[in-house]
Amino acid sequence: MEIPRHIAIIMDGNGRWAQRRLLPRAAGHREGAKTVRRIVEACCRLGVGWLTLYAFSTENWKRPQAEVDALMALLSRFLVAETPDMIANGICLRVIGDQERLPAGVCRNLKESCEATAGGKSLILTLALSYGGRDEIVRAARKLAAEVQAGRLAPDGISEAVFAEALDSAACPDPDLLIRTGGEQRISNFLLWQMAYGEMVFTTTLWPDFDEMDLRAACEEFSRRSRRFGRISA
Ligand code: IPE
Ligand code: IPE
Ligand code: MG
Repeated sequence: MEIPRHIAIIMDGNGRWAQRRLLPRAAGHREGAKTVRRIVEACCRLGVGWLTLYAFSTENWKRPQAEVDALMALLSRFLVAETPDMIANGICLRVIGDQERLPAGVCRNLKESCEATAGGKSLILTLALSYGGRDEIVRAARKLAAEVQAGRLAPDGISEAVFAEALDSAACPDPDLLIRTGGEQRISNFLLWQMAYGEMVFTTTLWPDFDEMDLRAACEEFSRRSRRFGRISA
C-alpha cells in the first residue's frame, strides 16, 4: 500500500453522531476530539509526514454562539492536554487560517503548543482553524500587493511558486489525499489552491466513528488511483 506523504481531512459528522444519540452537538465534538488523537497516532504508525485537519471553517463562525464557544473551549482543552504527548511523539503542530478572529485565550494556547512542539520531526500536524480557502488566497493576494506597492516585487514576479509561498500553507507540500467523513461530497472551502491535483476519498462514516481501519481503507483506495497530473499513463 502506498502511503500518502500528506493527508488532509475534513472532519465532518460530529453533530449528526450526537443527534443520533439524542445528545447535544457539543458531545459529538468532544468525541471527535478523541478521534483526532487516534488518527494522529495512526498517521505516526503509518509513516505519514504531513496531516492537515479541518477543525473550524470561516463559515463555521455563523453557527450558534453557544456551539462556537463550546468548540473554542474544547480546542483550548485539547491543546493543553495533548501538547506533552505531541512533544513526546515528535509531532510538530502548526496552524493555518485567520487567527485574528480566534479568541485571545485560544491564540495563546496555540502559540504555546506550536512553540513547544516546533522541534517535532515525525509528523507535521496542521490545524485549519478559522480557515477558508478563499480567505487564505485573498490574504496572500493582499500580502503580495503590498510587496508590489512597496517596490519589492514586480507584477511579473508573481509566479505560482511565489503565490504558494504567500499562502498560510507555505513550505508544506500539497495534499496527496483528502478524506471527508460524514457523507457529504464537497470541498467546503478547504485548501482550494492546494487541492489542484489531490485525490479525494469520501466516506459516510461520521468523524467520531472514524478509526485506523477506515484510514487504512482510504490509503488503499488512494493506492489504486492513477495520478496523471494532466499527462497520460506510462
Ligand atoms: C464537523 O462536524 C465539525 C465542525 C464543523 C466544527 P459538524 O459539526 O459539521 O457535524 P454535522 O455535519 O452537523 O454532523
Ligand atoms: C466543513 O464542515 C468544515 C469542517 C469540518 C471544519 P461543515 O459541516 O462546516 O461543512 P458544510 O456546511 O456541510 O459544507
Ligand atoms: Mg458538518
